[in-house]
Amino acid sequence: MFDLSTYLEAQRRRIDHFLNTWFEQAMPAGRLRDAMRYALMAGGKRLRPVLCGAAAEAVGGTCRDVLPAACALEMIHTYSLIHDDLPAMDDDALRRGKPTCHVQFDEATAVLAGDALLTMAFQLLSDPRFADPSRAPEWLAVTQRIACSAGGQGMVEGQMRDMAAQFTTLDRQALEALHALKTGALISAAVHAGALLGGGHSGQIDGLETYAAAIGLAFQVKDDILNVEGDPETTGKSVGTDEIKGKSTYPSVIGLEASKAFARDLVARALQALTPFDLRADPLRAIAAYIIERNR
Ligand code: IPE
Ligand code: IPE
Ligand code: MG
Ligand code: MG
Repeated sequence: MFDLSTYLEAQRRRIDHFLNTWFEQAMPAGRLRDAMRYALMAGGKRLRPVLCGAAAEAVGGTCRDVLPAACALEMIHTYSLIHDDLPAMDDDALRRGKPTCHVQFDEATAVLAGDALLTMAFQLLSDPRFADPSRAPEWLAVTQRIACSAGGQGMVEGQMRDMAAQFTTLDRQALEALHALKTGALISAAVHAGALLGGGHSGQIDGLETYAAAIGLAFQVKDDILNVEGDPETTGKSVGTDEIKGKSTYPSVIGLEASKAFARDLVARALQALTPFDLRADPLRAIAAYIIERNR
């Protein structure tokens, strides 16, 4: 019987080890490295790299094949959190159970730590020590997809819409589009990277794209729900802040109970997309359920 917590623990250890080793050799000691490391090693759930590895396994590959791409995704995600917490954006003081990067260091250092983590992700993705030359076209396609998902056609545009919509109420369609960009795009890129580098064929990749779109949205809906009824001790971040900042969220647009029902429906859709896959997709199945059951 597949046990998700054992799986997640093993994956997180593997990811943290790679990030630590890479970091030691890639970054000179100093304040910038300290701030990057502070944010990166603060104990995030590592969901995007875990999904990348699990997608590779679902198509018959291994998480080892995808580890550099998985860790690059975590660097991009961590940069996005550092910038998201800045006073000019969500102005949050708590992240991953610790003071946010700009509180612990200062704003300029936090901006630069974010910049450097984003850039470092592409340094890692293009490092010839990791890419098997026979898989160069796949690595290039993955790099392109990650760039598109993280930038102005993806996450950054989602963040722009999130900021622009403060104190206005979006309709449900606009909110879904915002969430798909802000959170969904990078989650989809993580699953896509795993599927492609793991050796998946186009039918498998299509199925996993459907899975990823559903869990990506479910993940942000749950994040919105946790901002209403989560516990800061457990989530590691402040609660109630979306309402204070006038954010459009699923609970504010459709209500809390409808948001929970919608998240469950999305997970059912994600599981449906995995029907053609065998037992090797069990980690992806369990992660889908975890996304709405989690309390952090
Ligand atoms: C938080 O992401 C920001 C969102 C995109 C919802 P996570 O909930 O994955 O944060 P960490 O990495 O575990 O801290
Ligand atoms: C963060 O979204 C999304 C990104 C950083 C791209 P939120 O602002 O909703 O997430 P939390 O609640 O601060 O983690
Ligand atoms: Mg935000
Ligand atoms: Mg935020």
